[in-house]
Amino acid sequence: KPALRLGIAGLGTVGAGVVRIIRRQADLLESRTGRRIEIVAVSARDATRDRGVNLKSYAWETDPVALARRDDIDVYVELMGGENGPAKASIEAALESGKDVVTANKALLAIHGQALAEQAEAAGRVIRFEAAVAGGIPVIKALTEGLAGNRITRVMGVMNGTCNYILTRMESQRKGYNALFEECAQLGYLEADPNLDVGGIDAAHKLALLSAIAFGTRPDFDGIDIEGIQRINLEDITYAADMGYRIKLLGVAQRTGRGLEQRMRPCLVPAESPLGQLEGGTNMVVIEGDAVEQIVLRGPGAGEGPTASAVLGDICDIARGFRLPVFGQPASTLADADSAQSNSP
Ligand code: NAP
Ligand code: HSE
Repeated sequence: KPALRLGIAGLGTVGAGVVRIIRRQADLLESRTGRRIEIVAVSARDATRDRGVNLKSYAWETDPVALARRDDIDVYVELMGGENGPAKASIEAALESGKDVVTANKALLAIHGQALAEQAEAAGRVIRFEAAVAGGIPVIKALTEGLAGNRITRVMGVMNGTCNYILTRMESQRKGYNALFEECAQLGYLEADPNLDVGGIDAAHKLALLSAIAFGTRPDFDGIDIEGIQRINLEDITYAADMGYRIKLLGVAQRTGRGLEQRMRPCLVPAESPLGQLEGGTNMVVIEGDAVEQIVLRGPGAGEGPTASAVLGDICDIARGFRLPVFGQPASTLADADSAQSNSP
């Protein structure tokens, strides 16, 4: 089979991590997918910066849109971030010019995911985004493949590594916000605008995507009731601990008599429970379905390796020829089918 040729835009924490894995593990990836995975061209803002990875054999594009339109790539990998701007324009250009897309950009997808998925469907292409939700945990794959036989009733969990890191280290190390922020930056956890992390917005972007996939609806970010962790102080954490609880930024999406309810808020969880035991940048997603009952997925939710791992999972799926759409074009149909099914005996 011919090689799968990639164009990668964004060479920061995640992008450099993806390049590193492909360079290190080209033979393994080929043996798993039956195709050589080759990077053809890359893009970032600063062409002179040392990124700790050899980029000499790749073409450099200053403009991500030009990269996305190149005739010599099959897949455009968007790892710049941002809800609009070059991320959105370049993904649209990639789909227009017949490329499949892989992205980790939850901010973009939570708002524009439906339109982009519809554009992909119309063009006969796919847009994949495993890395956008819960970092290294393959939760989208779990929902769309392993749990496909279930009617999902609830998804919930801790989906922002930065917040979980700050909340757990505040308790265990009695450190203040600023020092912990700096540690999160060193670990590559923070969004370009860290207010998205501590404000609960980043986790809500993920919840919007997760619940769209779980319930077959359009991503509804505006429908999420959001509160961040900015007002949580050491005193709150101490009081919670004294009562046998821990404070977690918990996202919940569930069916109720009034439709889909989604919220992302700091919650008290029992210290001894699996959620209460979650440390540092770890994420946890709990999925409940009519057949499986409950499963719990736990793993690193942020940082170079875990996020690049999820991006590579998507690239390998495309190399193998998996074309499964996850939401978007069939969303309204799925939602109708879902409610019709729930009404039938
Ligand atoms: P990052 O370290 O800030 O890297 C962003 C990269 O994009 C940089 O290489 C930057 O170039 C490049 N870039 C930004 N604007 C550009 C433009 N206009 N043209 C060309 N290149 C541009 O970000 P990151 O942490 O890797 O995150 C990337 C994406 O993955 C985001 O959507 C983020 O939400 C998502 N994500 C991140 C994580 C994580 O743990 N970090 C986890 C899951 C998902 P320069 O290097 O030259 O400045
Ligand atoms: N800023 C995000 C977090 C990165 O801390 O979880 C992973 O999506």
